[in-house]
Amino acid sequence: MSEMITINIDGQDVEVPKGINIIEAVKQVGKGKEVPHYCYHPKLSIAGNCRMCMVEMGMPMRDRATGEAVLDEDGTQKIAWIPKPTIGCATNAAPGMHIRTNSEMVEESRNGVTEFLLINHPLDCPICDQAGECRLQEFSAEHGRGYSRFIEDKNVKPKRTRLGPRVTLDDERCILCSRCVRFSKEVAGDDVLGFVDRGTYSTLTCYPGKELANNYSLNTVDICPVGALTSTDFRFKMRVWFLKRTHSICTESSVGANTEIWSREGKIYRITPRRNDAVNDTWMTDSGRDLFKPIESEDRLIDYTIEGVRKTSDEAADAAVELLKGGDVALVGSAHSSLEEQFFHKQIAERSGAKVSLVSHYGEGDGLLLSEDRSPNLRGALLTGLIGEPPKADLESLAREIDSGEVKTVFAVNEDLTEYGIRKEVLAKVKVIYVGTHANHTSEVAHIVLPSLSVFEKDGSFINQNFRLQRFKAAVPGPRGVRPDFTVLEKIAAPLGDEKPAPVTIDAVWERMASGIDQLDEALRWRSLPEEGVALDATAFAELDFVETKNLKYDPAALKEAQANPAEA
Ligand code: SF4
Ligand code: FES
Repeated sequence: MSEMITINIDGQDVEVPKGINIIEAVKQVGKGKEVPHYCYHPKLSIAGNCRMCMVEMGMPMRDRATGEAVLDEDGTQKIAWIPKPTIGCATNAAPGMHIRTNSEMVEESRNGVTEFLLINHPLDCPICDQAGECRLQEFSAEHGRGYSRFIEDKNVKPKRTRLGPRVTLDDERCILCSRCVRFSKEVAGDDVLGFVDRGTYSTLTCYPGKELANNYSLNTVDICPVGALTSTDFRFKMRVWFLKRTHSICTESSVGANTEIWSREGKIYRITPRRNDAVNDTWMTDSGRDLFKPIESEDRLIDYTIEGVRKTSDEAADAAVELLKGGDVALVGSAHSSLEEQFFHKQIAERSGAKVSLVSHYGEGDGLLLSEDRSPNLRGALLTGLIGEPPKADLESLAREIDSGEVKTVFAVNEDLTEYGIRKEVLAKVKVIYVGTHANHTSEVAHIVLPSLSVFEKDGSFINQNFRLQRFKAAVPGPRGVRPDFTVLEKIAAPLGDEKPAPVTIDAVWERMASGIDQLDEALRWRSLPEEGVALDATAFAELDFVETKNLKYDPAALKEAQANPAEA
């Protein structure tokens, strides 16, 4: 806990953490109070170059000789106001500090800064891709003069410059805030951007022979306060005010970066990061932003089928129950399934006596927001008891069991079994029930196919590398006729346990899960999960070794320590 101090903002005493800068301190006052700023970003170093965040600052006056407080006629301590405005981003709150954010001097400073910024900025807002989320446009309306005194010609700078494979730069819109330069150097570790030329001719560019091609390049687009940096993919596709935002979780790896899905009329247009200081700060990978594209692909599974013939979901579920009741079952679960689905998979495995396997999806980590485990919910599979330890990379032992006739039915979720050591000829020896979003060799030979919804089309939750439970919401509807997985899974799990299937909603699933999973608080419900997620007790998994190495918010040694001493953590 940081020490709290009292400062005075516009005549109101507020408690803020000691050392916090004035932009953040004013934010804490709430009620829409804000110090306008461009170059300051909470996750980057302070540059102090845009000068938009000017405030008036004063400290309680003391007599230099005696150190005594100098009092006003009314007995209150006099405030020594600094005669010139100061920048809020580089001023840290100190006890007794007084701040004015709306005095005449402050208004005049913002007005002047805005006028300077607009001197060379093109007035092409109606055709600019940043419209709707441009700080310059917003602050100009709020703090600008409303007319221009500039009669000279504007500087002409390069337009539509390719900075890298995914980022396009319109240099004339750049206000030289250096956020993108600092991000590349400080966060992405790829010092590729810089300014050339001086004064009014200063221009952002890549260093000679380099391009902005790292897997974090699109974060520069997110943080550019104006329309200078744009996503080559999203550019001119849709006005942002038409788009609906839905909170989601990136499924690219066990990091579980918090995201926002931007959609309109059932179509996703882009994915951007959502701030969570315990998970991804305000960043995400470029590769994670493309994950919505396959949901519209041609090979999407959209029909419930038995032996290739289209059926209703109930008919397909009934047929699956019959097969599973026959015994000799193996279940191949998935670390890409949601916690809710894994809960049902575990129930199906228990009730059908199935042996459970899972395959690992490991790759190289980048030490930042792409972890070695390329699945979002391996910890969920552990918590639900679907598996007892991190999985292997192949299904060779299952292949042997199928070959020897020990296994007669395979319930496979999301995985193409032929990629993990089960040859097609071997797979042909068993009846396969396949649950997944896309067609593959396994769905082709499956006796029963149960199409499922992608993460963008359903509600659910994942548990990330740090055992943080996080929820995601449906952003767009799934293909027509495809029902949420857990409603179909209930139709299979209930009859296997000689129960009548109940209508299931995510709330109903959570009522069951919260009482069935030790690490979940009984009172915990999906709908009331905080946006930043909930850190779960991971002590039960202290003996397990995971593949992830240190990355932005994951430290294997610290996790082990927390698991060993949960009370201190
Ligand atoms: S391109 Fe955008 S983020 Fe980069 S310096 Fe210019 S205004 Fe700032
Ligand atoms: S935000 Fe303070 S100088 Fe730019």
